[in-house]
This record gives sequence, C-alpha cells and structure tokens, in this order.
Amino acid sequence: MDKIRDVAVIVGSLRKDSINRHVANTLAELAPAAMKLNIIEIGQLPIYNQDGDENPPAAWTAFRDRIRVADAVLFVTPEHNRSVPAALKNALDIGSRPYGKSAWSGKPGAVVTASPGGIGGFGANHHLRQSLVFLDVPAMAQPEAYIGGADKLFDANGKLTNDGTRKFLQGFMQAYAVWIATNAR
Ligand code: FNR
Repeated sequence: MDKIRDVAVIVGSLRKDSINRHVANTLAELAPAAMKLNIIEIGQLPIYNQDGDENPPAAWTAFRDRIRVADAVLFVTPEHNRSVPAALKNALDIGSRPYGKSAWSGKPGAVVTASPGGIGGFGANHHLRQSLVFLDVPAMAQPEAYIGGADKLFDANGKLTNDGTRKFLQGFMQAYAVWIATNAR
C-alpha cells in the first residue's frame, strides 16, 4: 500500500466563514486515500521579527516543527490587493527562518486561489509561487487552480454545490498526489 502523505494545508484567510477554508475542506474530502490533509493554523503567529530568532515565541517554534514533519504543503488562499494576504506571508517568513533552517525546503507544494472575483486570485497565486521558488518548494505547475466566482459555489454550511468545480478539484488532487510521489525527497 502507498505511504499515507501528511499534507500541511495553509489557508491564507483568517475569516470565520472563509471561502478558501471551504475550498480547503473540500480538497480534504476529495483527496485520494493516500493523502491526509491537515489544516495548520496561522492566525495565532506573532508577526515575524528577526530579533525573535534568538528566543523565538512558542507559536513560531510549534509552526516550524509542524511544517518540518509534513510530507507536502498545500496553499489555499485569497488574494489581497493582487498579492498574498499578510497572514500568509507572515507564515512563509516564519517557516523560512532561522537562516539555513527553513522548514519549507523540498516539500512538494501546490497552490489554489479562490475569490468572488473573475480572475480567481491569479495575482496572489503567482506572487506566492515567486516566494516558493526561493523557498525551494517545488510547486505543481499544472493544473493551475484559480477559482473565480467562488462565493457562488458553496451553500450556507460550506458544502460545495457545483459539480464542475468538484470534478476539477478532484482532478487537481489526483495530479497533486502524483506530484508528491514524484518530488518527495
Ligand atoms: C480583498 N479581496 C480581493 N479579491 C480579489 O480578487 N483580488 C484582490 O486583490 C482583493 N483584495 C482584497 C483586499 C483585502 C484587504 C480584502 C479584505 C479583500 C476580496 C476577497 O477576495 C474576498 O474578501 C474573499 O472572500 C476573501 O477570501 P475568504 O476570506 O472568503 O477566503
């Protein structure tokens, strides 16, 4: 039997009724059995300050340790002002330090962006990919996932109601499973 992959899921929105959290929960349901998706919270992380590397806040250490043991990292995020939300950038920066000890290195990654807008968070998706290149996270190129009109895709309980989107997300997770198996170090 295939090894079960521990996939750390980072949701870029801190909002209680976040569409992106709905997307992340849906991806967890649709993932192949060989993947276990776990949302790793980022809202409790103090803002990164390099001075803190001497004596890091417990929340930074716990986050770094959790990412370090994951097999892969999946980012599901909204776009804020055509870029990544500050909370997500903060988590990326915290995980990347202290210098030379990045928790992200070599984890096979994937990026999903969702927005009520028509271009589905394209700007955030690609700004995030720029950071992932530097962080040595090999991010799956295809399929790309820009989920536009995302406020219309879920019911009041956060359940996906659109069959086309379900099929697309299922295919995305199947491709990501192959990506992880191919790129695991
Ligand atoms: C947004 N929103 C937004 N949407 C978008 O498509 N492109 C953008 O650049 C922005 N910029 C932006 C900035 C800020 C500060 C906020 C609060 C919002 C709208 C955003 O897509 C919308 O609020 C989503 O619902 C956010 O995702 P969650 O929180 O529902 O997952």
